[in-house]
Amino acid sequence: MIAKHSLSLRLLHWVMAVMFVSLFAAGLTMVSSLEPWQPSLLALHKAFGLVALLLFVLRVCAKFSSKPVTKSGDESKLQKMAASSVHFLLYCLMCAVPLTGILSQYFASKPISFFGIVSIGVKSEPNIVLYGLFRELHSLLIAVFALLVLMHVAGALYHHFIKKDDTLKRML
Ligand code: HEM
Ligand code: HEM
Repeated sequence: MIAKHSLSLRLLHWVMAVMFVSLFAAGLTMVSSLEPWQPSLLALHKAFGLVALLLFVLRVCAKFSSKPVTKSGDESKLQKMAASSVHFLLYCLMCAVPLTGILSQYFASKPISFFGIVSIGVKSEPNIVLYGLFRELHSLLIAVFALLVLMHVAGALYHHFIKKDDTLKRML
């Protein structure tokens, strides 16, 4: 019998994985387009980015209220440390990426609407320096995030196809 991660953690893992990959693709599409749908895509990017931040809060709660899974494996101390460092950094970035997006819009005095239901209050006078800083940070953190996700996925595939252990099955 495989000791799986809790149902809430598994659900949140896959919903958030799809969400972050889609937000990443949408982000790259909108910065390289002058098409008439660009502003609508940006509005959706911001609204789903807020959802991602809310899910992050739920996920941290789920993480602390779930029993950690017992991992049977023969990884070295170094491998275990590498995996948990990547997981820890992914958690940090799941929070920092949407936050830098929100702060860039706050200092640019641009609206952040949650699907037209509620709007987050933004600064009445734009602060171009702080806008520039958070906009740059948003791009920079996304680049680090993409690199970590690639390492993370490579690690998961290595466990599943080469080591043939239960690491991926525990998350399914
Ligand atoms: C939650 C996960 C998010 C991901 C993965 C993500 C990803 C991206 C990516 C890949 C870009 C293109 C970056 C570039 O090439 O410089 C981008 C741009 C941008 N993002 Fe995000 N983003 C997220 C959340 C947010 C949030 C919450 C907001 C604001 C509420 C936001 C606002 C923006 C803005 C304003 C741009 C620039 C658009 C433009 O210049 O046309 N993002 N994002
Ligand atoms: C196809 C893509 C992905 C695959 C195959 C995958 C696979 C996995 C697996 C197998 C685990 C469990 C590792 C273990 O038990 O030691 C895991 C954990 C984790 N994944 Fe992913 N993942 C993917 C995408 C993502 C993405 C995009 C993110 C970030 C948004 C992410 C964030 C995490 C985090 C933070 C953990 C640690 C969970 C915890 O123990 O609290 N994953 N992933």
